[in-house]
Amino acid sequence: MAKLCIALDTNLQQAKDLVRSLRGYPLLFKVGYKLFICHHRAITDYIKEEGFELFLDLKLHDIPNTVKEGVLSAKELGADYLTIHISAGKSALRSAVEVKGKLKLLGVTLLTSLDDEDIQDIGFCRDREGQVFHLTELALKEGFDGIVCSGKELSYLKEKASKPFIAVVPGVRLEGDPVEDQKRVVSLEEALSAGADIIVMGRSILRAENPVKRVEEILLKL
Ligand code: C5P
Repeated sequence: MAKLCIALDTNLQQAKDLVRSLRGYPLLFKVGYKLFICHHRAITDYIKEEGFELFLDLKLHDIPNTVKEGVLSAKELGADYLTIHISAGKSALRSAVEVKGKLKLLGVTLLTSLDDEDIQDIGFCRDREGQVFHLTELALKEGFDGIVCSGKELSYLKEKASKPFIAVVPGVRLEGDPVEDQKRVVSLEEALSAGADIIVMGRSILRAENPVKRVEEILLKL
């Protein structure tokens, strides 16, 4: 069964209130730049103390030694999942895997906010599915546990990838939700039927009139 991960792209108080109000639900909480840069342990410790898994979404992209040090720090913090851009390159991925221990490493393929034109602009010459597949294979070959991709490419990856992997899918929208900065969006049903293992949702939950009710509705569909 797929898991739901809530992206805590809010201020500290809202994040803590939401985590507390969802105590006991089968969820993961994702901490990214917004909270981590100013509040790091105030939120990561809180998530762990409340009994949830911690998904640290720092999307590391640096030289091998710096990535390795980042992985060691994420372990010290008690993170369960950590994201690293696969385009950091083979040596950086390898350095991360060497020290990962039980931490699950997730490789970011192509951000869900990029469409075909954006991907060409960056200079990636393969088509979108080909590029995501290439990056996925690179990460899996180096021993990554999973990858982050759009639900749009996931069926293809699940069929073609050389080994099983944890598929993390952001860019998921419920009916009527605004797409905003995301471009390769899918519905919850599409993400699930493509084989998502972890569904990441932020604004659809954070901006709901009643976020707990919204989470309950989503959990019923998983
Ligand atoms: O609000 P929304 O549901 O669009 O939030 C998606 C979350 O997933 C954000 O925290 C964003 O940083 C993250 N993410 C993403 N695309 C990726 C990797 C992570 O949208 N490829």
